Amino acid sequence: MRARGISIAIVGTLLLGEGWKQGMQHQDTREAIPLTAMQRDMLLGEMRGLLKGVNGILHGVASHDTAAMRAAAASAGMTAMMRGEGMGRMGAGRGTGAMPGRAMGGQGHGMGQAMPEAFRTLMHATRAGFDSLAAGIAAGAGSEAVVARLAALTNNCVSCHATYRLTVSP
Ligand code: HEC
Repeated sequence: MRARGISIAIVGTLLLGEGWKQGMQHQDTREAIPLTAMQRDMLLGEMRGLLKGVNGILHGVASHDTAAMRAAAASAGMTAMMRGEGMGRMGAGRGTGAMPGRAMGGQGHGMGQAMPEAFRTLMHATRAGFDSLAAGIAAGAGSEAVVARLAALTNNCVSCHATYRLTVSP
């Protein structure tokens, strides 16, 4: 009786263990994008720049500072990225704009090629959205409109993050 209890316990543990392992394996079902460590660091640096842009826009809205709003939106835009001017990016301010510019724009070679087409399209739309937001602010868009546009723009962040994850391969 006792032996049976123990074997049930053992089988139970094994089953639970297996379930747990599978759970771990299947927890993150997002599409994996394999990158080198350097590409990953570059992409994540760009991402932090995007978050900084969102943060800067909201601070600008909160303090009714149109110039700050516009500058923050532009920093997350396509133009700033091409020039390597954006906030929080590798190479920013060091005249290495071509590298970040290629990072996700997919210009011929570099990381662009490592990214799925749909990823690049969404990234491009996001950057372009920040440029257009910056232009809207320059043209006098009010705080409410800016927040509404930013809210819509951050749908891109949410949907891309829900779809993709990064893995590092040498
Ligand atoms: C086209 C795809 C895409 C878009 C659009 C996108 N991201 Fe990301 N982002 C990623 C991926 C992929 C990762 C890595 C996630 C992972 O591996 O779990 C990431 C990671 C991040 C990180 C983590 C950075 C770090 O250092 O670990 C931040 C912050 C971030 N994104 C902010 C944003 C913000 C803010 C936006 C929108 C304004 C945005 N992202 C839009 C794909 C995207």
